[in-house]
Amino acid sequence: MPQPATPPPPSDAAVPAAGVAAAAAAAAPTERFAARTAGMTASEIRALFAVASRPEVVSLAGGMPNLAALPLESLAAEVGNLVARDGQVALQYGSAQGVPALREQICEVMALEGIRADPDDVVVTVGSQMALDLVTRIYCDPGDVVLAEGPSYVGALGSFAAYQARVVHVAMDEHGLVPELLRDALRSLAAQGITPKLLYTIPNFHNPAGVTLAVERRAEVLEICASYGVAVVEDNPYGLLGFSGRTYPALRSLDRDVVYLGSFSKTFASGLRVGWALVPPAVRDRLVLAAESATLCPPSFTQMLVSRYLAGHDWRSQIKTFTEAYRERRDALLDALETHLPDGCTWNVPDGGFYVWLTVPEGVDTKAMLPRAVTARVAYASGTGFYADGFGTRQLRLSYCYPTPERITEGVRRLAGVLEAELDVMRTFGTPARPALGAGGPQTPSPSTP
Ligand SMILES: Cc1ncc(COP(=O)(O)O)c(C=O)c1O
Repeated sequence: MPQPATPPPPSDAAVPAAGVAAAAAAAAPTERFAARTAGMTASEIRALFAVASRPEVVSLAGGMPNLAALPLESLAAEVGNLVARDGQVALQYGSAQGVPALREQICEVMALEGIRADPDDVVVTVGSQMALDLVTRIYCDPGDVVLAEGPSYVGALGSFAAYQARVVHVAMDEHGLVPELLRDALRSLAAQGITPKLLYTIPNFHNPAGVTLAVERRAEVLEICASYGVAVVEDNPYGLLGFSGRTYPALRSLDRDVVYLGSFSKTFASGLRVGWALVPPAVRDRLVLAAESATLCPPSFTQMLVSRYLAGHDWRSQIKTFTEAYRERRDALLDALETHLPDGCTWNVPDGGFYVWLTVPEGVDTKAMLPRAVTARVAYASGTGFYADGFGTRQLRLSYCYPTPERITEGVRRLAGVLEAELDVMRTFGTPARPALGAGGPQTPSPSTP
């Protein structure tokens, strides 16, 4: 039987090797991270939620849905029934693609926006944020270009950064994404030999800009993307939250190749984390594989609860109740802005959703002003978080979804005081309270727009 080799005595040569190993062992764990994690900076959302939770601060910052109107008692009964009657299934692993009954119901929900879909093409995810992550994962290599409205949803920008995609913003006007600017961007990128992988768009009640893509522009946006071979990702968590009760035809209803993302976060309960992607059949299998590697399967329990809720409750009138509350809050915000804000501020009038996008007078830097606002007990989301390139210093997002109308009015009164103080400093010293990095409105392309 061969003898095990005797280990050689430690030699001088072994000492540096051990030293290297020791040095490697002493290296900070972060030094071993993959390069792509460099793009994962703390989103402003996290800081905002921390601030929002302080009771003395009126938070107009986060986009937390207002759940006060949910029928909690009947939901509690539903949860009890689910465990008692279907607990063996609800508490078990399920299909990676999602519970079949829920996928059928999701198709009924999407039909409200003109989408005719096959439940086989629906993939249930842990919130639409997960769908965004998975879609980016299967489409984007490092360095790939993604087109997105400027400004855009901070969580999407986070996913694009995490996969090292480069975001090129396309500006909006009061009717949403501007087709000519989209065409210009694509033409200019093509001249550099670049075909973007995706157009990421939020057509309805945009987060953060509050605007809706005009119906007449929808087919044009799709045609432009098709002619350049760019896939369209339509993110639509707010589409059913229109204040006039009107719904808009989804981009997906006009083109079956659109990747559509939906969510129950704003129309039912964000804490359940149930969202979905509707994808072309050619994309579905890859998406399911990506989902499987992320979570094995979405939680059976929350999916079945949503399914029971949709089957047993008048969810359409619940959405109406939500939108009535949001409209009342939007009105309170708009009234207060009109009454209290200094001259030189402009904002849009959203027809649904959660957000007003405010442009402040030249010279005011909303990010630099935020700590002073929080000291004055009001919080907002500063504009730069909604651009991938640091643009948006003159903008901020106000969310009216969560606080009561009275708190909203008080919050705007405090914000107006902070703005007045900034303007006073500028008037007195001829410079901003802190220098602004740049300026531009939501209608102005950010610098990276080619
Ligand atoms: C535009 C947009 N997309 C996606 C999401 C993520 O939603 P979910 O809760 O479904 O993950 C949000 C959440 O605020 C959003 O505003």
